[in-house]
Amino acid sequence: MKVTVVGTGYVGLVSGTCLAEVGNDVLCLDVDPEKIRILNEGGIPIFEPGLLDMVKRNVAAGRLRFTTDVEQAVAHGTIQFIAVGTPPDEDGSADLQYVLAAARNIGRHMGDYKVVVDKSTVPVGTGDKVRAAIADELKARGADIAYSVVSNPEFLKEGAAVEDFMRPDRIVVGAEDERAIELMRALYAPFQRNHERLIVMDVRSAELTKYAANAMLATRISFMNELANLAERLGADIEQVRQGIGSDPRIGYHFLYPGCGYGGSCFPKDVQALQRTARLDAGMEMKVLNAVEDANDAQKHVLTAKTVKRFGNDLSGRKFAVWGLAFKPNTDDMREAPSRYLLADLFAAGATVVAYDPVAMHEARRIFGDEPRLSYAESPMAALEGADALLIVTEWKEFRSPDFEAIKAKLKQPVIFDGRNLYEPKQVRQFGIDYQAIGRQ
Ligand code: UDX
Repeated sequence: MKVTVVGTGYVGLVSGTCLAEVGNDVLCLDVDPEKIRILNEGGIPIFEPGLLDMVKRNVAAGRLRFTTDVEQAVAHGTIQFIAVGTPPDEDGSADLQYVLAAARNIGRHMGDYKVVVDKSTVPVGTGDKVRAAIADELKARGADIAYSVVSNPEFLKEGAAVEDFMRPDRIVVGAEDERAIELMRALYAPFQRNHERLIVMDVRSAELTKYAANAMLATRISFMNELANLAERLGADIEQVRQGIGSDPRIGYHFLYPGCGYGGSCFPKDVQALQRTARLDAGMEMKVLNAVEDANDAQKHVLTAKTVKRFGNDLSGRKFAVWGLAFKPNTDDMREAPSRYLLADLFAAGATVVAYDPVAMHEARRIFGDEPRLSYAESPMAALEGADALLIVTEWKEFRSPDFEAIKAKLKQPVIFDGRNLYEPKQVRQFGIDYQAIGRQ
């Protein structure tokens, strides 16, 4: 099938590449000539395991191409994916200008039937706006061409995006007409594996499904974080509690890990957008979500609180080693990352930081610029040299079994504040290290 993907950001690039991988003829459009240049030269502008090889393979096979030419892109695909950014406005609502601009371009240039598929995370009702934008453009040029509008939200996890696309749990398709449903069914047939994974529903329900999934997951995390803080104060161990409740199949083990808060490009933004939609479009408050957000805001400062409790409010002259900057492992993404809040807190209290992250240090350099209180280490161990304590913010695999003797020898004071509960407290304490995790004794 001929497929056009508008937007070569995270979702667009992964979707376009995976659709080419199964044999489709995919053309990706972006307004940013620099991105298109990188892609046409066989590079990718983001870090995502497995993606670079897949892009190269499909470009070489001629199934995957990149362009800045809008007319060519609209002419190419019967299926037109819109996968552009929906950054939050100042008030937390999703900014639809890029989505609607893409829709208008399609209306302006289309010459035959198109299925316009919204893959960007957009508020409920956006499908109607996309439909209207295309209708306006067609009317303006006196054209009468059929088209369908579909909502096909994306559930990719950064760091596992290729795997998630190639082997999806479910494929949600919101559509109102058979012609579009049949085309979507055919497009996704190679990803069905051994049972039906396509869930067809109406457009508004599909749009809400995306927010509902992320809000539910964020809720689990905030709930576990509060429970962990409670366990700590009550002398219980959240790790044991987690296993105790996760064994109930109605609860399950996934996404029950307490930590130093959720970050990333989705949860914080989507929780806010859903609160805002409820408030403005439905006149109601999502009370649970308000609490989820408050709890997460507080949790991002939990490592600071532990540090201050141990070292006092004034941290001037102190140096801390920080392991992990990315909002989670296997990505260089630092959007809403807990590390940003921790670093800002430590700087404000007068401390300096030596940070190490396997892939996100270039991103930190971009964000923090030439912040004099921040320096970077070549390895986890090098970060520890002469530091007052170690703080762990991201659960990268390479942090999982460190040499605790060496850690103790390098730190000025043998203290670890672990925001991701990587170790067994008893084991670490055997080395004479003061180990403080989240919700553990
Ligand atoms: C999320 C959704 O999982 C995905 O389906 C959606 O398409 C986009 O948003 P992503 O943001 O890539 O994906 O990361 P995810 O792995 O879900 O983690 C989000 C945040 O929650 C991270 O900061 C992570 O550290 C935190 N988290 C996750 C916890 O604190 N505890 C957990 O148990 C799980």
